[in-house]
Amino acid sequence: MHIISMRDFRGINSLEATVARAESMRDWARRNTCEIQFPHHKAVLLFLEPSTRTMYSTEQAVLNFGMRHTLIAGTDHISILKGESFADTFRMLVGQGARVIALRTKVEGAPLFAAKICQQYIDEISIINPGPVNIINCGDGRQFHPTQTALDTTTIQWTLGRLDRFTLGIVGDLENGRTCHSLLEAFRDRPGMKFVLVAPKGLEMPKQYTHGLQNYTESESLDALADCDIVYDTRFQLERHSPEVRRYVESIRHLYIINQQVLDSWNQNVRVMHPLPRVDEIAPEISLDKRIIAFQQAEFGITARMALLFRLLTQPFERIDLTAYRQVAELAPKDTPQPIDSQKPVKYFQPIERGTVIDHVPAGQTNLILKMFSTFGCLDGNSPHQIVQYVKSSRYPDNKKDVLLLNNFDLPSLVAATIQAVFPQVTINRLPGDGTIVKRRYPVPFCLTENVHCSNDACITNVDHEAKPIFIFNGTPTTGHRIQCEYCGSSLWN
Ligand code: NCD
Repeated sequence: MHIISMRDFRGINSLEATVARAESMRDWARRNTCEIQFPHHKAVLLFLEPSTRTMYSTEQAVLNFGMRHTLIAGTDHISILKGESFADTFRMLVGQGARVIALRTKVEGAPLFAAKICQQYIDEISIINPGPVNIINCGDGRQFHPTQTALDTTTIQWTLGRLDRFTLGIVGDLENGRTCHSLLEAFRDRPGMKFVLVAPKGLEMPKQYTHGLQNYTESESLDALADCDIVYDTRFQLERHSPEVRRYVESIRHLYIINQQVLDSWNQNVRVMHPLPRVDEIAPEISLDKRIIAFQQAEFGITARMALLFRLLTQPFERIDLTAYRQVAELAPKDTPQPIDSQKPVKYFQPIERGTVIDHVPAGQTNLILKMFSTFGCLDGNSPHQIVQYVKSSRYPDNKKDVLLLNNFDLPSLVAATIQAVFPQVTINRLPGDGTIVKRRYPVPFCLTENVHCSNDACITNVDHEAKPIFIFNGTPTTGHRIQCEYCGSSLWN
């Protein structure tokens, strides 16, 4: 069992269960101990990025359970500084007996990679450590911070008395704020939720998190937060910005300061949370205002992390399925060819006799399909094809579609299936050249592993050569799928 993303908070480990357990730990946290002790378990706290609260409260949680632990803060004293890979670093820690590894790093997807490497090490190499090894993600770059969300949720239950039916404002550097991403993931499907996402232009919540999200508005202004029950404020992540973006942030940051006047202009029962550290986004003059609950929130860090550790050390270990990621090789279903209706008028393009016609592409999206072709290396610039854009079609709200005709070209099944997964309305027509036509629907592939590369430099796949890119299909038959890096969530094309 690991705590890697909000996907790890389901079933018996729901947010409710986590909050209830965190609350039951409150008395123990006060007494700096717990009735249940794990004195034989070793924990390594590997904090490769700066941390005050998360590092300290994780260490306190470990100590309250009587565990043995090593704290590594920064890369100065470990061999990563000499160029040792993440994979080898994790292997070493497991070989030296670690049963829990709490990891904070700027490398996105490193916790999932750690979980795979550690499991493989226990299965195939380890002499001394019987495992299993539990990974706790204490923040991976701009991606996720699930243990923070566990304490944020505990705070929301404490202050509102419920975990649904409220308006949640999230404000700040929503593009790079990992606490914001995990918080939105945690609450997105809860009943009666409304979201107000406030960020300066260019630092908005990434599409991968708003995709399919209901009941949300986006704004650049703090005024949009007036009716929120909870405002979750965050700092600008300057260390993750280019010098140019940093200059831009310096020029607009004064617009994002919550001071007395701003606070008084909002719903009078609002509660303002903040994962901390704050820089200047909550003015010091309102630090002691009852509506600011950021410091109480930080106190829940110990109990929430005790709750998570308790879960990891007492529940049966759930393995990561290392064999699940096989390329889906044969996707072509069997269909019966139909005769081509030669009476049907073709108005907008030159019909082809043999090849593939990709029809009902949403207007203007052919470029994305061409990007797919280039990734799959299946159609070079010289191949004869016709692109017909903005053809009239009553099926679409704007009455337009694109059609792509590939003369004498048999589209490989995996490419066809990928196109249909992204654009479920697309029809793929195969013309074998004998006067018949085959219209096919393909099953959604599970993942892509060949010829794919993650465009995010901070992704573990671009940092450790043992971390091979894997892109997973995420979506539904109605919304269509996004094809996302399994480690950092970046989209392959869309
Ligand atoms: C945050 C983090 O490191 O992600 N803080 C925390 O863990 N409590 C927020 C931040 O750095 O802005």
